Amino acid sequence: MPEQHTQSLHIVILAAGEGTRMRSNLPKILQPLGGRPMLSHLLDTARQLNPAGIHIVIGSQSDAVMAAFTDTQDINWVHQAERLGTGHAVQQALPAIPDDALILVLYGDHPLVSLQDLESLTGTKTELSLLTMLPESPQGYGRILRDSNTSITGIVEQKDASAEQLKIKEVNTGILVASQKLLNQLLNQIDSNNSQKEFYLTDIFSIAHTRGIEIQAVVANDAIDLQGANDRRQLAMLERRYQQQQANQLMDAGVSLADPARVDVRGTVEVGRDVSIDINVILEGKVVLADNVYIGAGVRLKNVEIGCDTRVEDHSVIEAAQIGVNCNIGPFARVRPGTVLADEVKIGNFVEIKKSTVAKGSKASHLSYIGDAVIGANVNIGAGTITCNYDGVNKSKTVIEDGVFIGSDTQLVAPVKIGKNATVGAGSTITRDVAAETLAVSRSKQTNIRGWKRPVKKSD
Ligand code: UD1
Ligand code: CA
Repeated sequence: MPEQHTQSLHIVILAAGEGTRMRSNLPKILQPLGGRPMLSHLLDTARQLNPAGIHIVIGSQSDAVMAAFTDTQDINWVHQAERLGTGHAVQQALPAIPDDALILVLYGDHPLVSLQDLESLTGTKTELSLLTMLPESPQGYGRILRDSNTSITGIVEQKDASAEQLKIKEVNTGILVASQKLLNQLLNQIDSNNSQKEFYLTDIFSIAHTRGIEIQAVVANDAIDLQGANDRRQLAMLERRYQQQQANQLMDAGVSLADPARVDVRGTVEVGRDVSIDINVILEGKVVLADNVYIGAGVRLKNVEIGCDTRVEDHSVIEAAQIGVNCNIGPFARVRPGTVLADEVKIGNFVEIKKSTVAKGSKASHLSYIGDAVIGANVNIGAGTITCNYDGVNKSKTVIEDGVFIGSDTQLVAPVKIGKNATVGAGSTITRDVAAETLAVSRSKQTNIRGWKRPVKKSD
């Protein structure tokens, strides 16, 4: 029996394609899927196989690709100067791989290949194995040729296939496993005598067959996962597929989704029990939702941590913030980076809050701008309050201590401090500090004119 299980595994990812059909300045494998490059999804799956090496074949846009992955150390970038075909691409990676290694070839533009399919493939006992699939339509793919005993005899590319061969439903995913040694031998025998004048990786199968090498095919579980993303339509389809998987994971973790087709995850989500998410919600970066959190319709959360029993009402946008237990946010609230809300805080409709901390039980229920503020516990911020934190050059801080009441339509011109339990009368412009337990009012006195007559319209 071949000793493939003890061999070290090296993964070669083909990614030198230009992705012409995307009509984009961004290289194909950097096109986003679930908010991050296609290639990073494939790398995540590849790494779960614990390979001894990952070799990525890149071409003309190699600088941009490498720049997007500077923080990864486990990649050997292989340059394919001329794009001469998939066989030629694999050949470029071989010198860096020991000849007793097992090689798994993956395609950069097939980002959703499942770990399960790859494990089945690397677990095969034959010297040469490939992953095939049965998509709804075989259009565009290489067709798998089998003899009357169902043994694989070769692969014919769509462009080289006869009318009879085009009818074959089983197609090549491009993903295969072989030893470095065998792959090297077989690739040395391929030529470019075909309609595309390319060195086809797929030609190794007919050569192997004539040499009497046994070939095993693993049929993929789900052809949709193995679809390539050659153009934006296919990429959009993969995106939906990916989002469906994310929604399933959320539901499996106990989240109730108003509609699994209307939630988009572009990062990682950690959830407690009985989290409930309404429609059209976008979760980006690292999102943590504790028990019983409710997220309303049309909410966007990016890098946010939310404590249990908190409700985020419709159309609120929260980014890079930490939110406590039993808070109430929105509807239509904007919580910007650097905001830390303690427990039982209320940030109501049309309130924007930035780089501020709010202690337990404080409320800003309507129409306010709070920036660079430190707000104590049980503070009430009236409607229309604005922290004037910017003088056109520098940002300044507003400090509001515990128990303060800020009347509606107040401007707090920072730097300014409002002491404990102080009260600010509605309509005030506060430019100086207010001491604790003090009332501050800064508005002109009201005049009432008894019997005053309204002007009457003049006749011409
Ligand atoms: C290839 C297969 C086909 C299979 C299909 C699955 C060949 C000859 N054909 O066809 O049987 O059904 O994939 O999607 O292998 N690449 C390089 N360097 C090159 C050429 C290609 O790195 O010189 C990379 C591309 O970036 C891409 C992958 O190899 O990631 C496949 O190349 P592509 O041209 O898309 O092959 P297909 O015609 O789709
Ligand atoms: Ca392709």
